[in-house]
Amino acid sequence: MLNDKSNSNPIVEMKNIKKYFGHVKALDDVDFEINPQEILALVGDNGAGKSTLIKILSGVILPDEGSIYMNRKKVKIENPNDSIKLGIGTVYQDLAIVDCLNVAANIFLGREPRRAGIFVNRKKMFKDSEESLKKLKIKIDSVRQIAGYLSGGQRQSLAVGRVISMDCDIFVLDEPTAALGVEESSAVLKLIKDLKDQGKSIVIISHNLAHVFSVSDRFVVLRQGKIVGKRLANETTTEEIVSMITGAYELKN
Ligand SMILES: Nc1ncnc2c1ncn2[C@@H]1O[C@H](COP(=O)(O)OP(=O)(O)OP(=O)(O)O)[C@@H](O)[C@H]1O
Ligand SMILES: [Mg+2]
Repeated sequence: MLNDKSNSNPIVEMKNIKKYFGHVKALDDVDFEINPQEILALVGDNGAGKSTLIKILSGVILPDEGSIYMNRKKVKIENPNDSIKLGIGTVYQDLAIVDCLNVAANIFLGREPRRAGIFVNRKKMFKDSEESLKKLKIKIDSVRQIAGYLSGGQRQSLAVGRVISMDCDIFVLDEPTAALGVEESSAVLKLIKDLKDQGKSIVIISHNLAHVFSVSDRFVVLRQGKIVGKRLANETTTEEIVSMITGAYELKN
């Protein structure tokens, strides 16, 4: 009942993941896989443990128990750099944008293009940033604008743009469309599909089931720190996913 019928070789496997915050059991023995070239929707109610699970994959939080495998090999992810080095790019729900830097500097944070290996190549940084913004249809007047003055939606687009311009195999997007307008949301969803066409895997966390149903291949549902269902998108319905999210499913079965 828990398992869908996708049986390819996963690129990522998180096994028996447990995480407590004091008395709160945020994750209770979670098994989570990401398959090659899939768009995977990770869904669940507020506080279900979604962000905690992906923060463990991105090295922001360490699990109390459990292991992570990539291509069947056990890996150590103890900080965000470990995760990035393994080809995993994450857009966090709480964004992490540096308010006092301009838009371009935020896009290239920590990987600024250099001249002669020393000086930041600002010309290239501004030009490449403008291209990323255009691709995402992000409405920001200038990449030289200070990020602290951006609107909520602009900040979110910027956070997505930053990660998507990185060369990763796996992209994890925690609520990438929550603050976005209709056009900006469509641009992000289209970008997610484009990434898949380029052979990448994408995990999308969203409360907007219409958004995730429009792009996802597979669903994983978390409820109160436990996986309650895994389904292929073409073998489930919005009603079934909602009933798993709310717990109505367990009462019925
Ligand atoms: N740093 C923390 N310290 C203490 N408790 C935490 C911390 N982070 C998360 N929690 C708790 O762990 C549980 C899972 O939280 P998490 O943020 O993973 O949920 P979520 O599924 O992402 O929810 P949402 O949809 O609201 O973003 C919640 O009960 C939350 O209060
Ligand atoms: Mg969350």
